Amino acid sequence: MLNVIILISGSGSNLRAILEASQNTEYPVRVVAVGSDRQAAGLAHAEEFGVPTFVVRYRDYPNRESWGEALLTAIRSFDADLVLSAGLMRLLPANVVTELEPNLINSHPSLLPAFPGAHAVRDALSAGVSSTGVSVFVIDTGVDTGRLIAQREIAVEPGDTEETLHERIKVVERQLLVDLLTQIARQEISLSHPDQPSGITERNLS
Ligand code: GRF
Repeated sequence: MLNVIILISGSGSNLRAILEASQNTEYPVRVVAVGSDRQAAGLAHAEEFGVPTFVVRYRDYPNRESWGEALLTAIRSFDADLVLSAGLMRLLPANVVTELEPNLINSHPSLLPAFPGAHAVRDALSAGVSSTGVSVFVIDTGVDTGRLIAQREIAVEPGDTEETLHERIKVVERQLLVDLLTQIARQEISLSHPDQPSGITERNLS
């Protein structure tokens, strides 16, 4: 069983998909806690599923490092194998990355390395690309620069707005995360061997 902490800032639809999957006793993943940097709406999903939550408010700390230390204290209090950032709208400071890597992954709504940063969907639309996607990577200290472990491509449709495109991306993203966590739990994907590029397989990279 893979014990996972999920970090969110917003609506938590990715979180919910994983919580729903984990209702199946065959699913090899257990969400042991959900954390946020604010009073995120998505925390309600965790409460509904009886999963403990913690909020480490960014604004209560003088700098990113001290916020990161408080976040680490909360994370350490759970027996987690992996921390998944699924919609946490905050860069994790080096102290968090150093302690948790490589068991710290992020989901991002673009085909990285294209369109890193907080406005990936808007930036893809502005650039006029015909397709974008979703990427999952091992977090490093850069901005969306970590080692890619899974990607899916999604077409941009005529008339797409940031909202319609992001929602179509999230439909794919939810299933990708549910499936990817299964692969990590079954050790079909290794997060710890940088020289083993098996994270992106034909199955993962479409
Ligand atoms: C996801 O697309 C995630 O990749 C991005 O923010 C979105 C969060 O969606 N960083 P939700 O809160 O899981 O609905």
